Amino acid sequence: MQKTLTLFQEIATMLLLEEQNNPMAPFVASEDLFETLDISLQENPLLEEDFVCTLKDLIAKTPKTATHAFFNQLFGGRNEKAVLGDLLSVLLNNSMYTYKAAGVQIGVEKAIIEKVNSLLGWNKNSGGTIAAGGSMTNFMAMLMARDFKNSAIRQKGITQKMTVYTSVESHYSIPKNASFSGIGREQVRYIPVNEKGEMNASKLLEVIENDLENGFLPTMVNATAGTTVLGAFDIILPLIEICKKYAIWLHVDGAYCGSVLFSKKYRHLIEGVAAVDSFSFNAHKMIGTPLTCSLLQVKEKKYLYQSFANEAEYLYQTDEDDFNPGKTSLQCGRRNDALKFWTLWKSVGTKGLETIVDKQFELADIARNYVESHPDYTCYSYENSISVCFNYKGISARDLCRELYEHSQLLVGYGTFNNQEFIRLVTVNSQNEKEDILNFFKVIENFVAENQALFALPAKTN
Ligand SMILES: Cc1ncc(COP(=O)(O)O)c(C=O)c1O
Repeated sequence: MQKTLTLFQEIATMLLLEEQNNPMAPFVASEDLFETLDISLQENPLLEEDFVCTLKDLIAKTPKTATHAFFNQLFGGRNEKAVLGDLLSVLLNNSMYTYKAAGVQIGVEKAIIEKVNSLLGWNKNSGGTIAAGGSMTNFMAMLMARDFKNSAIRQKGITQKMTVYTSVESHYSIPKNASFSGIGREQVRYIPVNEKGEMNASKLLEVIENDLENGFLPTMVNATAGTTVLGAFDIILPLIEICKKYAIWLHVDGAYCGSVLFSKKYRHLIEGVAAVDSFSFNAHKMIGTPLTCSLLQVKEKKYLYQSFANEAEYLYQTDEDDFNPGKTSLQCGRRNDALKFWTLWKSVGTKGLETIVDKQFELADIARNYVESHPDYTCYSYENSISVCFNYKGISARDLCRELYEHSQLLVGYGTFNNQEFIRLVTVNSQNEKEDILNFFKVIENFVAENQALFALPAKTN
């Protein structure tokens, strides 16, 4: 193992150097992949020397997500302490279902869940779990909502038309999860949003009441804290009243931006969260841990047990349920995603997490100010969002993103809102500085200036 760790260090050092010199990996077209790299598997073992060489080549050509050229998705950067925790999780290789198998690591997960619950304003009846991504924590929330509405479903299956409400701007995991849970995609009601992308609460009420009149069983409202494209926050307060009135489970999908919980300045964006039934957030997005680290917090942990607990004598052989979190998880074997969050949190404190979150809004303000003050840009974003959406010189957003990618300039994506397509810059990497954001725009401007032939630039009017 020591020899392998030395090799790891050698490759990691090469990667870090490579990231500095070439923040973008060379472009490898998917159709050329298996010709460009030695990936296919062969019958006989490789010589160690060839193995190392092949592995280094693979690493060097992999998209780099920790550099200041990666703005493509809702994660990025690299936090050293969190990486340390994750590397140790791999070495330890515990499974987080029982105290017997994971021991003190169960305490690490519990400490995180309990601390987050206290920040949410919840008491000791609350609980939570960590699952493999925000889609899965949303799924778990939907299953709890379903069983909360009708606990007999666990035995008998669904017999009524249950309905789920979510904004048109919410994540695609909601309809997928409706299909997995037996609720069905057709029973997802997409509620319109205002010009900022926030759910229209009075429309929600109207749709729920209409469903009730037509014999449906309203089951779950999903509010989004940070919509995937615009980074908008559904206003929670009016949803609480509606859900209370009709006994509907209220979940907040904070996968993208629920981490505003850690910020005194921005937690008003989730005002009312103490009154919801469940709340999820991805520490691998705003907090910057390695993928994946997705937390599901539940105000009444009895609902986690109701939906997920199952007896298994071959597994649960020691300790109380509280120390055997397999009883509240979707999976059986489960990776230790807690340690990386803990090593980060322990080292920087809750105040450090706040700094990480606030920095992203600061970077977004810098980007938005830049876009708003330069006439070649059109801005589609509002304040209090870390997604800065814009177009440059009227160039098609999808063409520009593709060319930047294929020419190894930048990784950035595009999105749409109200039939308008635009580039979405996400300032989720808190290790970036003002210069990195300004450099992002410079790269685009220089690239367009040098490659005018690639773009059908709209003619100048004067
Ligand atoms: C609002 C929202 N919810 C859920 C998810 C899904 O999270 P994951 O990619 O961890 O499954 C995302 C992912 O971007 C998201 O933006």
